[in-house]
Amino acid sequence: MEPAESKKSKASVRKRADLIKNFRCKNLIAIIEDPENPRNIGTVIRNVNALGVEKVYVIDPRRVLPDAWDELRADPKLAKLSVSAAKWTFVKRFDSTKDCLDHLEKNHFVSMVTSPHVKGKTNTFLHETDFTEHAKLAVWFGNESKGVSDIAVQRSERCVAIPMFGMIESLNLGTSSGIVLYEVAKQRREYQSKYRLRDRRGERATPLPTVIAPEA
Ligand SMILES: C[S@@+](CC[C@H](N)C(=O)[O-])C[C@H]1O[C@@H](n2cnc3c(N)ncnc32)[C@H](O)[C@@H]1O
Repeated sequence: MEPAESKKSKASVRKRADLIKNFRCKNLIAIIEDPENPRNIGTVIRNVNALGVEKVYVIDPRRVLPDAWDELRADPKLAKLSVSAAKWTFVKRFDSTKDCLDHLEKNHFVSMVTSPHVKGKTNTFLHETDFTEHAKLAVWFGNESKGVSDIAVQRSERCVAIPMFGMIESLNLGTSSGIVLYEVAKQRREYQSKYRLRDRRGERATPLPTVIAPEA
């Protein structure tokens, strides 16, 4: 590659990185609880990055991932499985669900679990749920076979379901994370575009844009 070309591509990468910053959903974390298949971790990270979710936490008792963030970002397996999204995404791992819940609660995050089944006291469908009510929100996705754990359900505000119309029990982890996070991020970006503060305070005179025009 010619030096000028490489410079230009670095500049365009920087330009894109600066542009997307304004569209990222602040204080929104996706949690993957005890994923078995590393491919699913890669898919969720890709979805998180593409949809402008701020962070991903992985509860990883099987120790699939390295501990430190810089190691996670540089991990070649994760880079491949997430088509490099891991390089651009904040990913943090936890040894246990309890550790993750303690960390979230200490930082005033409200959790919502997702499941195709009724879990806990409050259950809502995705399209009927207000994801803008809480300033800090963590959305949980469960293990491929067991789903979300009882402790995560107990310490969550609600359980959210994507309505199902087929003969099968559930969607897979990667697909459901894409559908749920699209709706959550859309609602929160609309909120951020209109208000600067929580509880619908600090209304902007002119709403910020909520989409980036696709490149030709
Ligand atoms: C393959 S599913 C797990 C199925 C598992 N047998 C169960 O009981 O939940 C993996 C994860 O995807 C998400 N998921 C799958 N289908 C969903 C749906 N219809 N609504 C909400 N979340 C869903 C949940 O987070 C679930 O824990």
